[in-house]
Amino acid sequence: MDSTEVNKGMAAILIAGIVFFLTGWLSDNLIHDAKPEHEVLKIEVAAKAEAAAGPAKAEELAPVAPLLAKADAASGEGVVKKLCVACHTVAEGGKAGVGPNLYGVVGAARGHMEGFNYSAAVKGKAGNWSYEDLNAWLAKPTAFAPGTRMAFAGIKSAEQRADVIVYLRALSHNPIPLP
Ligand code: HEC
Repeated sequence: MDSTEVNKGMAAILIAGIVFFLTGWLSDNLIHDAKPEHEVLKIEVAAKAEAAAGPAKAEELAPVAPLLAKADAASGEGVVKKLCVACHTVAEGGKAGVGPNLYGVVGAARGHMEGFNYSAAVKGKAGNWSYEDLNAWLAKPTAFAPGTRMAFAGIKSAEQRADVIVYLRALSHNPIPLP
């Protein structure tokens, strides 16, 4: 290494130092002041997204039981064909897709499909798929089972959820009784 190369090296280090110092100074002095506005904006956007996807907590949902008697399985089938079959099959013995087959899921244990690789969020959640659990799950999967792999925002309308649930209930040789 001759001395010009050493000098070039030194110059490079010096320039890097100056750039580092300047960007630090610039971000401290120029960008810092603007920060609070950005934070406020972010919170507003998050709050709006929350509102669009339905209530944040499962407990805030009204019970679905009173809606089930009037619910329409045919309309539920339409919703499932539109929103769910990209990831789920519904026929008895159907293969898993991105999500498990849904035949016989109502009333069954969580993670009811043999051999499907469920998340711990679903598999580890106590209880069976009751009507109210399905209602909360379909309203907002990530609120019912935080960490779930079901990438689905949720169904906002309580009536539509009831329709879907009575349709799913019928996917069985032995549907569980309506409440
Ligand atoms: C983007 C793909 C995707 C869409 C769309 C989707 N699901 Fe899922 N679903 C999944 C995945 C993945 C799982 C497994 C979740 C886990 O293990 O965390 C799952 C799990 C489930 C379960 C639990 C099954 C069990 O055996 O415990 C039910 C019930 C369910 N989905 C119903 C629905 C319904 C009804 C719809 C439509 C309204 C729907 N899903 C839309 C991917 C999807």
